Amino acid sequence: TSKKKIVVLPGDYIGPEIMAAGLAVLAAATQGTDFKYELIECRFGGAGIDQVGQPLPEETIRTAQQADAILLSAIGGPKWDQAPIRPEAGLLSIRSALNLFANIRPTQVSSAQIERSPLKAENITGTDFVIVRELTSGAYFGKPRRLDHDEAVDTMYYSRTEIERVMSVGFQMAQKRKQHVTVVDKSNVLATSKLWRQIGKEFSERYPDVQVDYRYVDAMSMAIIAQPAQFDVVITPNLFGDILSDEAAQITGSIGQIQSMSIGANGPNLYEPIHGSAPDIAGKGIANPLSMVNTVAMMMTQSFNENQITTKIQAAVDYVIAHKIVTPDMGGDQTTASVTKALVDFIREEN
Ligand code: NAD
Ligand code: IPM
Ligand code: MN
Repeated sequence: TSKKKIVVLPGDYIGPEIMAAGLAVLAAATQGTDFKYELIECRFGGAGIDQVGQPLPEETIRTAQQADAILLSAIGGPKWDQAPIRPEAGLLSIRSALNLFANIRPTQVSSAQIERSPLKAENITGTDFVIVRELTSGAYFGKPRRLDHDEAVDTMYYSRTEIERVMSVGFQMAQKRKQHVTVVDKSNVLATSKLWRQIGKEFSERYPDVQVDYRYVDAMSMAIIAQPAQFDVVITPNLFGDILSDEAAQITGSIGQIQSMSIGANGPNLYEPIHGSAPDIAGKGIANPLSMVNTVAMMMTQSFNENQITTKIQAAVDYVIAHKIVTPDMGGDQTTASVTKALVDFIREEN
């Protein structure tokens, strides 16, 4: 079998710190297996701006298009607050250029995580849902966009095609899970949301095996923490999905452990933690590496069908959480390096 090409975008602030951890775990978990890979590191985000003046250099996008999968940690931060083009623009551009229109963000609480959660155990037991966030349209991409001294304009736009393709992803996912979809919108106010809900209803007729309910995003933001265990697949526009997924992460106790996958019609998937570059803790050696490790695990199953390798990585993650070998964001006193070492040691012993 040929070597898989994995494009690596280490990013900014804690980005390189957790990427190193993810790659160390990948190396350990694939050692002695038939899975062979090649890492191709590219400039991206703030690092792209600093080195070649662009957050998404030509060469990076060309290389990414030819990859089997793309691994990104996180970009952005105060260093580029005044820059004419921000690192975040590169992230939006790569999602758009690769047509990564659906972003999958899981929330699951294992028994080891339950006591780390700020929520009561009885309210979150059994939580296992995924947010399917539309990723290449909506308020993030609508035109016109303008910022003047005395007024500013953003545009929230959705076409039928853009909504239908993300609904398809969500409904098909629900068929393989708990046959339940929650369509989230603000259709009591917004036109784009009225279309969103209308198309949700059309899909509900096309998928009679899937139970569908509808929520306004404000009520959903309560339900997601009050009764998270009732959800299965949550399909939502770009901006709402951004907000709800950070909220959902908190159910697990820390955003520092949550992975995501961005998928499109064809071409490579992009895998990334849902959190940002955490400038407040960068350089301190305490960034939680579990988000990146879980991101790598997701890639191994979803892009490479290497389920055994994913299982190995997940077992190591469960082990460190159960033994409280975790960073401060999860209530522990460990460092990025010591958690990573514990993961690698666990995997080597299992091998
Ligand atoms: P953030 O997600 O970086 O941080 C929010 C809080 O979570 C901080 O207290 C941070 O310390 C903590 N946190 C996040 N990841 C952690 C980890 N792995 N371990 C421990 N703690 C962790 O959000 P922010 O501070 O609002 O944004 C910082 C920068 O990141 C901004 O420039 C933003 O635009 C960017 N950002 C990038 C991405 C991405 O690259 N995909 C995603 C979100 C935000
Ligand atoms: C995310 C981030 C990005 C988004 C930013 C950095 C552009 O918050 O991936 O969730 O809003 O999509
Ligand atoms: Mn976000």
